[in-house]
Amino acid sequence: MEQNWTPGSWRQKPIQQVPEYPNAAALAATEATLATYPPLVFAGEARRLKKQLANVAEGNAFLLQGGDCAESFLEHGADNIRDFFRAFLQMAVVLTYGAQLPVVKVGRIAGQFAKPRSSNVEVLDGVTLPSYRGDIINGIEFNEGSRIPSPERQLDAYRQSAATLNLLRAFAMGGYANLENVHQWMLGFIKDSPQADRYRKLADRISETMDFMKAIGISAENNPSLRETDFFTSHEALLLGYEEALTRIDSTSGDWYATSGHMIWIGDRTRQLDHAHVEYFRGIKNPIGLKCGPSLTPDNLIELIDALNPANEAGRLTLICRFGHDKVADSLPKLIRAVEKEGRKVVWSCDPMHGNTITLNHYKTRPFERILSEVESFFQIHRAEGTHPGGIHIEMTGKDVTECTGGARAVTADSLSDRYHTHCDPRLNADQALELAFLLSERMKSGRDEKRLAIATA
Ligand code: TRP
Ligand code: MN
Repeated sequence: MEQNWTPGSWRQKPIQQVPEYPNAAALAATEATLATYPPLVFAGEARRLKKQLANVAEGNAFLLQGGDCAESFLEHGADNIRDFFRAFLQMAVVLTYGAQLPVVKVGRIAGQFAKPRSSNVEVLDGVTLPSYRGDIINGIEFNEGSRIPSPERQLDAYRQSAATLNLLRAFAMGGYANLENVHQWMLGFIKDSPQADRYRKLADRISETMDFMKAIGISAENNPSLRETDFFTSHEALLLGYEEALTRIDSTSGDWYATSGHMIWIGDRTRQLDHAHVEYFRGIKNPIGLKCGPSLTPDNLIELIDALNPANEAGRLTLICRFGHDKVADSLPKLIRAVEKEGRKVVWSCDPMHGNTITLNHYKTRPFERILSEVESFFQIHRAEGTHPGGIHIEMTGKDVTECTGGARAVTADSLSDRYHTHCDPRLNADQALELAFLLSERMKSGRDEKRLAIATA
């Protein structure tokens, strides 16, 4: 089957969620231009991520994946990237300490531009226009001109991705990600937090550990692993023409890789077994994700795993579960049992965002307590099934937006309008994201203590 694969073989298959470009020749010319541009990531990096994810699949690491629902051309500032990275690293430290496991860090960033839509059109005050599909395709402004898909946007998305990735690499390797910095930021957060006491305990333990290490001679100056971190990029590979143009043969292995990001995933709306997206993904060697919603049956899932990971390679496939707080208990156990029964190696990750979207005061929002509730259920179910709750996948920003309700510094339905900036779905703000990390960390720590107790009394 794989012999018939080429980076363009998806074009022979039925496809969902395709934009209608008015000028096919201009689109082809843009794709040809992109195909001459340098890759954004290197195959060796994708392999490194795959190895780290294999560790997660085996229960020895935890995956943190997060970022914007949709990146935008307008908000491409250094401050935005830095604030996101700072909040993300703070979460990573808290989770590392709670899980006492390495945290694999993957951003939804530097390529997260294309959006699937539930309707092809948007109606506003009696005017009907094509839906906004992400800045890589058309403009968000509600007028006819901006909603026409324009190929040049793909070149802008490529350039923005390259610049974002460049800054992230500099942050990750150039000193900004120093564990001592990250810890200082956290102390600042705790000082302002309404739940200061609860969080101080954890922060104090981290402080003590760092002081102890320093005392015995392990510091950021003499130890690169304290001042550097591996940070990877990911996005939904929805726009296959763009992905195809950036699909390249790796000269060291002779394999095909998507070079638009380290990891890419298939959305819940485009995961039909015999359609274009599954066709494209089966031929590339990157670590990949598959979004799993309530309509996915256990048989469906096993067929998709057969197509996407026939060699049963650990780290290749991450199942990103997005059921909703009220559906997870019904949907998840049967998928876990099918995967266990067939002996498939996967990473189980929880996306507590996409199944918990509601409308309040005309704003799309997500109540923080429903997000927490889905994550808690995810952990409980895995504990009951004896499998590893491998990670979380969240939509977040480093800014103080008011898009999701709740959290310790409660965002209310009436305050949603204060700073509602998202181009697509509502994101956790920096406080809410860190609060989620603390709560998860407490949960993982108590899970560990329970296990120890069980061993001690056995
Ligand atoms: N290198 C380790 C890691 O990436 C420790 C580390 C350094 C770290 N800077 C960090 C962990 C920032 C989390 C956040 O896990
Ligand atoms: Mn989204």
